[in-house]
Amino acid sequence: MPKILRATAEANPNIAIIKYWGKRDEKLILPMQGSNSVTLDEQLKTRTTVMFSDKFRQDEIWINNKQLTTPEELEKVMPQLNIIREMAKIRLKAKVVSYSVTPVAGGLAGSAAGLAAVAYAATNALGMNLSISELSVLCRLGSGSACRSVYGGFAEWKRGEKADGSDSFAVQIADEKHWPDFRIVVGVAESGEKKVKSRAGMKHTVANSILYSKRLEYLPKVLKESKDAILKKDASRLFEIAMRDSNDMHATMHDTWPPIMYLNDASKEVIYAIHELNQNGIKAGYSFDAGPNPTIFTLDKHVAEVKKILENAGIKKMFVSNVGSGPKILKDEIEHLIDENGNIRKHSFDEKKNMLVIEY
Ligand code: PMV
Repeated sequence: MPKILRATAEANPNIAIIKYWGKRDEKLILPMQGSNSVTLDEQLKTRTTVMFSDKFRQDEIWINNKQLTTPEELEKVMPQLNIIREMAKIRLKAKVVSYSVTPVAGGLAGSAAGLAAVAYAATNALGMNLSISELSVLCRLGSGSACRSVYGGFAEWKRGEKADGSDSFAVQIADEKHWPDFRIVVGVAESGEKKVKSRAGMKHTVANSILYSKRLEYLPKVLKESKDAILKKDASRLFEIAMRDSNDMHATMHDTWPPIMYLNDASKEVIYAIHELNQNGIKAGYSFDAGPNPTIFTLDKHVAEVKKILENAGIKKMFVSNVGSGPKILKDEIEHLIDENGNIRKHSFDEKKNMLVIEY
């Protein structure tokens, strides 16, 4: 019997503290600047099974039980798959089946977990033995922010200098055990797809924002300061830097022509309320990606107050996450989303049990 080229991986999203917004190379996904992030725990994970087989006539990509068909939907996964095939010197078609608990394309960093899981599962299915930096590069080629999801804890994506992108990958700042009372409260203000995808939004900003060049000037300094605050567990320093950076990135978005606005009324209410909470000392810091969903960095002792703020802003759904770990490979037959014959196993998320249920 021929060897089954199949593997399953799980990866967690990461939320940027210092945000990546803008590329210097669109094809290789090379950033204009460095960025850093914290990895979430398993509550918003993505599980992906990748199988390569000579039985498959074409590539098939499924996310949350929906097959991706349009070029726009496929633009992240296909380049990543093609590079992996090139590296492994194979031409076999692939089936990729992914389930993401994060709302896809809702500005909640779901693509980071998704593309990291594809890179891990595909390279594992082909028995490729890559270093974590090489895996980070592969993740980056799917979605920039995904390159930071190769690490648990806190990670920095190095801008790199080389034109081929071989030095633009993530390094770990501190692992998931470093800061036990650090919490990330993720509010779901809107789980629909965002109007302007981050890829288009950042391109537009780099081309049109007058403020963007100022952002590039200030980033190296805050990258250093935020890393230092993480290492020293200086919460109030880190939360202030995070809020300022989120505001700065959104300012450059508003400064494009026509402007891009991801924040909604609930997001703005959260911003005001967090500043009120912080009046006598910083207890929490908000951060927004390319969407209206607030992410609040805080400490365990302030979680109840932060949850109240989100509730008052009309945000009903939220996740309180610890600092999470890096990707893992699942080996048990029952955990694969594709069976050994290449058929997709029926699967769905059971909200009550809070787990992925696979029919076997
Ligand atoms: O990696 P992308 O293309 O999903 O872009 C992510 C951009 C932000 O989430 C807004 C910031 C970041 O660094 O994650």
